[in-house]
Amino acid sequence: MRILVIGSGAREHAIITALLREEVAHEITAAPGNAGIATVVPTVALDPTRGDVVADYAVDNDIELVIIGPEAPLVAGVADAVRRRGIAVFGPGAAAAQLEGSKAFAKRIMDAAGVPTGRAVRAGTLAEAEAAIDELGSPYVVKADGLAAGKGVIVTDDRAAAVAHAEHYLQQGGVLVEEFLAGQEVSLFMLSDGHTVVPLSPAQDYKRIGDGDTGPNTGGMGAYSPLPWAPEGFVDEVIRTVAEPTIRQLAAEQTPFIGLLYCGLIVTEQGIRVIEFNARFGDPETQVVLPRLVTPLSELLFAASTGQLAGRPHPEFSADVAVTVVLASEGYPDTPVTGRALTGLDEAAAVEGVSIAHAATARTADGFCATGGRVLSVVATGSDFAQARARAYEAMGRIGLEGGQYRTDIALRVV
Ligand code: AMP
Ligand code: GLY
Repeated sequence: MRILVIGSGAREHAIITALLREEVAHEITAAPGNAGIATVVPTVALDPTRGDVVADYAVDNDIELVIIGPEAPLVAGVADAVRRRGIAVFGPGAAAAQLEGSKAFAKRIMDAAGVPTGRAVRAGTLAEAEAAIDELGSPYVVKADGLAAGKGVIVTDDRAAAVAHAEHYLQQGGVLVEEFLAGQEVSLFMLSDGHTVVPLSPAQDYKRIGDGDTGPNTGGMGAYSPLPWAPEGFVDEVIRTVAEPTIRQLAAEQTPFIGLLYCGLIVTEQGIRVIEFNARFGDPETQVVLPRLVTPLSELLFAASTGQLAGRPHPEFSADVAVTVVLASEGYPDTPVTGRALTGLDEAAAVEGVSIAHAATARTADGFCATGGRVLSVVATGSDFAQARARAYEAMGRIGLEGGQYRTDIALRVV
């Protein structure tokens, strides 16, 4: 198949790695891709948020499937533009992508569909936000309503910090104050063709920058899959109580969701609760879900994009486990230092079961340098978590980046 992958992160690198692993060879192009992706497939420098540009490229190059990785092009309507030209595209249109683009929209859909989630109050003024903060109580959870690249949420016992966070994001369109939910977090990806959902294997993400879940929230510092502690019947329950009602509600509102419904969940003592939806594959969870996928990824994504998921068996996953550890630049998440040299990438990739997914890297005369906050993901598979962890950290130890930061406790709780 001729496939165009939109995006430039480690998630897109992992998607391309999975496509290249299939028995059937595909012609894959990435737009814009990154320096690591460019070592495995051709890349084309086009603006991924311009629907007309992406659609023209897809038509001119006889692309059969467009896979949209990040949220910004989805919210900007790139999937709509491509779909209008009759090309299969994995990713929801702008209207359904509001599930991620607006937390208030997501709450409304959940309410209408009867999906279990925490109580939330939308505030448009500081007085409303403060009233909600006091009503819902500590620990305080305050979220930006719109897209905020993983930085829009604060969870804190400090009322002044919660109010300051609300004040900041009120200037950018409003906030949600939410009930605090205690429990283990799960990221569960569901493929949807607009009507039928098919689950992938659950993963757990580590959102905080520091070991022991300390410090500020990030885009995600590591992940593992599967979840040996997940309750019996967990995936089926999420399908039945979360994914199917949400997909039905969106279809009933004439905004069918075609693409990946990312269910961000907390397993509380009272049961499963949704903390957020995303409209795309998660990063870094994709790096641990896809290496375990046995069913060809292109078949699944094409079936979802063309309304053909009904009646399909659930995708097959290997018995191996996977761990990913993210390497971030000094100063991430606030002010990442860029331009520093990366060393040892070949030595790291030589560790058994290890691959490297690039995120923010660029070519230099003699290798690569870091160009942003999350630089790359070291991905390791193994027969158990002790082995996968050992491989991941052996590989990470071989990589040099001055001031580089990574967590040392990824997947430790499941060893
Ligand atoms: P979100 O962007 O909504 O996924 O929030 C980022 C992170 O903040 C989540 O992964 C959780 O760790 C935390 N969080 C968000 N909402 C809540 C909540 N209602 N209760 C507890 N923690 C939350
Ligand atoms: N890892 C969290 C996300 O992709 O939103």
